[in-house]
Amino acid sequence: MPAVGGIGPGSGKEYLGNLTPFVTVTCIVAAMGGLIFGYDIGISGGVTTMTSFLQKFFRKVWEKKEADKSTNQYCQYDSQTLTMFTSSLYLAALLASLVASIVTRKLGRKLSMLFGGLLFFAGALINGFAKAVWMLIVGRMLLGFGVGFANQSVPLYLSEMAPYKYRGALNIGFQLSITVGILIANVLNYFFAKIKGGWGWRLSLGGAMVPALIITIGSLVLPDTPNSMIERGQTEEAREKLKRIRGVDDVDEEFRDLVAASDASKLVEHPWKNILQRKYRPHLTMAILIPFFQQLTGHYVIMFMLLVLFNTIGFGSDASLMSAVITGVVNVAATLVSIYGVDKWGRRFLFLEGGVQMLICQAVVAACIGAKFGINGNPGDLPKWYAIVVVLFICIYVAGFAWSWGPLGWLVPSEIFPLEIRSAAQSINVSVNMLFTFAVAQVFLTMLCHLKFGLFLFFAFFVVLMSIFVYYFLPETKGIPIEEMSQVWKSHWYWSRFVEDLDYPNGGLEMRKKGQVPKNV
Ligand code: BGC
Repeated sequence: MPAVGGIGPGSGKEYLGNLTPFVTVTCIVAAMGGLIFGYDIGISGGVTTMTSFLQKFFRKVWEKKEADKSTNQYCQYDSQTLTMFTSSLYLAALLASLVASIVTRKLGRKLSMLFGGLLFFAGALINGFAKAVWMLIVGRMLLGFGVGFANQSVPLYLSEMAPYKYRGALNIGFQLSITVGILIANVLNYFFAKIKGGWGWRLSLGGAMVPALIITIGSLVLPDTPNSMIERGQTEEAREKLKRIRGVDDVDEEFRDLVAASDASKLVEHPWKNILQRKYRPHLTMAILIPFFQQLTGHYVIMFMLLVLFNTIGFGSDASLMSAVITGVVNVAATLVSIYGVDKWGRRFLFLEGGVQMLICQAVVAACIGAKFGINGNPGDLPKWYAIVVVLFICIYVAGFAWSWGPLGWLVPSEIFPLEIRSAAQSINVSVNMLFTFAVAQVFLTMLCHLKFGLFLFFAFFVVLMSIFVYYFLPETKGIPIEEMSQVWKSHWYWSRFVEDLDYPNGGLEMRKKGQVPKNV
């Protein structure tokens, strides 16, 4: 029986090519597309705690907050209106990613990135000058559309552009940008909140124009991927581009596989209908379960707990900065670890190690919070050693997420779909991610209020499930060219029953012996 993790790395072809300065710079620029998503995650949480912002747009929420003298820390933050404002972006992103699937496939990855940048820019502009709630909402929708386009196209772009041996590291540049964006936004929020006159929130929201400009300009100067150029009939230009990207003249083998994958892709008229075919069952499963599990790790919730803790200890207005900077720095540092290790240790190792690490931390944090905050959510005076232990375990959790499910939740889907369904499947990935980001954000404060410290155990249960899933069902994809990925399913103990040799009669999707020319080229 084939191994649980599928075939081992290195059993695929050896395409010629180097990690050229051209491809490195291209991928760094493209990865900056993650900045808009990260900036928004960081900025929106902080802005909705600024008094002047609440007084102007959400007066009722502010009055309720002022009147609330409850000591129950579990229920302090529960406001459906505010959460709805923040998470409306995710619904817009969900819709946009579906449209982006067509743009990305028919017009290229670059154009989707450009739309992402422009829409996000428009949203930031409207939000920065907002005078009424409707402007905030329209702005947020546009921001969401921008994120939907960017998250649909950037990971695909990176995975197609990168030499396969460095694909993991280059792709995780996207997650690195997300985490850097979050960190910058949080620090900016802190300082903008202190601006006299209470208009700092305008700078926070309007500041999103900067990352928007970065991806917009980036998308104008970046080349399109050879895969996408071939798919759109620019075959000869694509060969030249591939030579430039790989830094060698002999790109024949890779080029033939790209053409073969594109031929297979042209046979598929309706990627959305096709994806339901039996042979794409492994891909569809991953496109749904990976983003679902990523959000059900509960990363959002445990980071939030740090804020609650710092507020309780009495850091006052510095609580949010402190918690955000601590988690932000750990997030960035751990993402760098992932960049270093993902092509050495593989995806499965990081997924499984990260899972165990998050599980242990969730159990410890649940026990600590349960012991002091109890059922009524009033911890009284917290000893210093206690706070240190909780902060430490939250940080270890954050590191675990940031080198496993965080980046891999974007990397793995972007590298496993065959070209003919790649764009549609990536849209499913983004939509499911956004749907569950929305769902978790929308219900978790209410859940915290009711489940109390038990909420961590709720998410711990999912971490167990996802780790079992990875162990049995996710094959290793490190070191395998993306147009050769069919081999990992064919040799997998479970998925091989869905994917038969005949399913992929065309080149790149079928393993051939080195140098053998496919019939259709
Ligand atoms: C996730 C987000 C998360 C971010 C930062 C991304 O990969 O999709 O939900 O907020 O990482 O941790």
